[in-house]
Amino acid sequence: MTVSRPKPSARSRVVRSLRKLVEFKGIHRTHAGQYRTRIRELYDGPQGAAIRFSSVLSLHDPLVGRMLGSGQFDVSRFGNVLDVGSGSGQILKYLIRYARPGAHIVACDLSYHMLRRARQRFASSKVAYVAADIANLPFQDGAFDCVTCGWVIEHLADPTPGLKEMARVLKPGGSLLLMATEDTITGAMSSRTWKCRTYNRQELQAACESAGLVWHKPLWFTSIHRALRLGGILVEAQKVAQ
Ligand SMILES: C[S@@+](CC[C@H](N)C(=O)[O-])C[C@H]1O[C@@H](n2cnc3c(N)ncnc32)[C@H](O)[C@@H]1O
Repeated sequence: MTVSRPKPSARSRVVRSLRKLVEFKGIHRTHAGQYRTRIRELYDGPQGAAIRFSSVLSLHDPLVGRMLGSGQFDVSRFGNVLDVGSGSGQILKYLIRYARPGAHIVACDLSYHMLRRARQRFASSKVAYVAADIANLPFQDGAFDCVTCGWVIEHLADPTPGLKEMARVLKPGGSLLLMATEDTITGAMSSRTWKCRTYNRQELQAACESAGLVWHKPLWFTSIHRALRLGGILVEAQKVAQ
């Protein structure tokens, strides 16, 4: 028996067309290597330098702090944490604050300048800084019990190689905190600023599962974000234990 899907309403068709019109499409038109060079240039430059401040103004930085500080995503469970696409340290700051004493944290990013900015901000003996691409992480299999990755995979036309790499470096049963731009109007507007794409929840969940990462817990910054479906896709995924 085939089950027919309900037809989208006129309003949702208009919203979807508007989103498609607004969304940045260059990521799908450019060769991956060339696109990576552009991303490096974007984040190396003034726009990358401004993230430290713009993320406080947009509340993204304090809201991540609230999520980690409240134990909604409890980082004190982990001894080895990798932050992928650290930027100038918006998530890293809270990993340093809330990780258990003696935890090892590695911050990696494609942009050397973003890493330099993070290093200048946090002179913590807990943190090692490594320049690396999410799709080719220079770490051993199962090296980490937690990986955090916020607002990075929207820079991948195809998320699978990056998700597979994060799954590979996680221990079986380890946790991934994944945050990504959602396919909403606000997400499409943000994709223009950051020359990235957006994700549909179901599509991203399926991509995670194909990489061996099962969605364990959806997360929301606040109950207002949950009610209004704002803030993007936030999820704790776990590496399937073999
Ligand atoms: C929007 S910033 C997010 C920074 C930080 N995670 C946060 O939550 O504010 C995206 C970061 O991802 C990095 N990035 C983009 N593509 C990457 C890739 N393929 N591998 C590693 N890092 C990448 C960029 O250099 C940039 O620092």
